[in-house]
Amino acid sequence: MNTKSHMPLTNSLFCFLFLSSFVCGQLDYKYYDATCPNLTKIVRYGIWSAISNETRMAASLLRLHFHDCFVNGCDGSVLLDDTSTFTGEKNAPANRNSARGFEVIDAIKANVEKACPSTVSCADILTLAAREAIYLTGGPYWSVSLGRRDSLTASQSAANAQIPSPFEPLENITAKFVSKGLDIKDVVVLSGAHTIGFAQCFTFKQRLFDFDGSGNPDPTLDSSLLGNLRSVCPNQNDSDSNLAPLDAVTINKFDNVYFKNLMNNSGLLQSDQALMNDNNTASLVSTYSKYPYLFSKAFAASMVKLTNLGVLTGQDGEIRKNCRLVN
Ligand code: HEM
Repeated sequence: MNTKSHMPLTNSLFCFLFLSSFVCGQLDYKYYDATCPNLTKIVRYGIWSAISNETRMAASLLRLHFHDCFVNGCDGSVLLDDTSTFTGEKNAPANRNSARGFEVIDAIKANVEKACPSTVSCADILTLAAREAIYLTGGPYWSVSLGRRDSLTASQSAANAQIPSPFEPLENITAKFVSKGLDIKDVVVLSGAHTIGFAQCFTFKQRLFDFDGSGNPDPTLDSSLLGNLRSVCPNQNDSDSNLAPLDAVTINKFDNVYFKNLMNNSGLLQSDQALMNDNNTASLVSTYSKYPYLFSKAFAASMVKLTNLGVLTGQDGEIRKNCRLVN
C-alpha cells in the first residue's frame, strides 16, 4: 500500500484536531507571538541601528526583499551563498555588486537565534526588515503576516529570467509582474520604491550619451538633470559603478517625489520614465504625484501582495540557522 498518498489527509486531520491553523500551512500575524515574542523589537532595533549607520540601507533592504520575492517567492533564496550543488541568486547579474544588506540580515538573524533558536525563518526576517526600514524612512506601515519558511535551494537562472531589467520595455516588466499575480497598478506603485536609494551609472548611462544608438541623449530626460548626471557618470567605463540617487530631490525620504520627478522628465532609469509613455500608467503617476496619502496607502497594499508571493509554509522548506546556508 502507498502510505504516502494518505499523508495530506492525515496532516490536515492532525492540524484540524490538535493545532491552530497557523502552524498548518497558513501565514498568520500572530505566528511567533508564543515562540518569539520579541521578534519585532529585535528586527526594529537591528534596522534602526543599520540605518543610523548608513541611511541608504533602508533602500538596499527593500530591494533585497523585492529580489527575494520575485524569484520563486519570498523564501529567503536570495540570501543563500552558492554551493557545489547550485549556483544561486546572489551572483546573478541583477544582484552581483548590486544587492546589499546581507550583513544586516545576518546580524539580526544572530540576535533572533539567541532569543529564539531555530524558530524564525530568514524569509520572515527579511520581510519584517523591509517593513521596518520603510517605516523608519518616512513611509507607510503595514501589518506583516508571518510563518514563511526558507528555501532549500536558489537559482541563478530563475533570477535572470524573473527580475525585471531597467533596459526592457514596460510591457515586458508588466508581464513579469502579471505572471506573479500582480498587476499594472502594482508596477507603478512599487516602482515608487525608487523614491529612495541609488543606482549605478551603467544602469542608465546610455540615456546620457547615446540613447538607442542615436548618438544623442534621451530626449525625455530633463536637461539640467542630464548635466548633473553627466558629471557623475562621465562617458568612460570607469564611471560605471558611480552612484546617482534614484530621486535626487529627497534622496533618503520615502515620499511621493519620485512621481513628481516623472512628471518633470526627471526619472533616473529608462524603466522609470517609461511609466509616462502609457496612458494608464501615466495617469496613476499623475495621481500619486498629487496625493501622497494615496501613494502611501497603495504602497502598503502592494507590499502586502509582494510579501506574500510564493511563500513556503507548513512542512515545506526549513528554518535556516544561518541565512547564507541550508541547514
Ligand atoms: C519595475 C521594475 C524595476 C526595475 C527595472 C528596477 C531596477 C532597479 C535598478 C537597475 C536599480 C539600481 C541597481 C544598481 O545600480 O545596483 C534599482 C535600485 C533600487 N530598486 Fe528597483 N527596479 C524595479 C522595481 C523595484 C521594486 C518593485 C522595488 C521595491 C519594492 C525596488 C526597489 C529598489 C530600491 C529601493 C533601489 C535602491 C537600492 C539601493 O540603493 O541599494 N525596485 N532598481
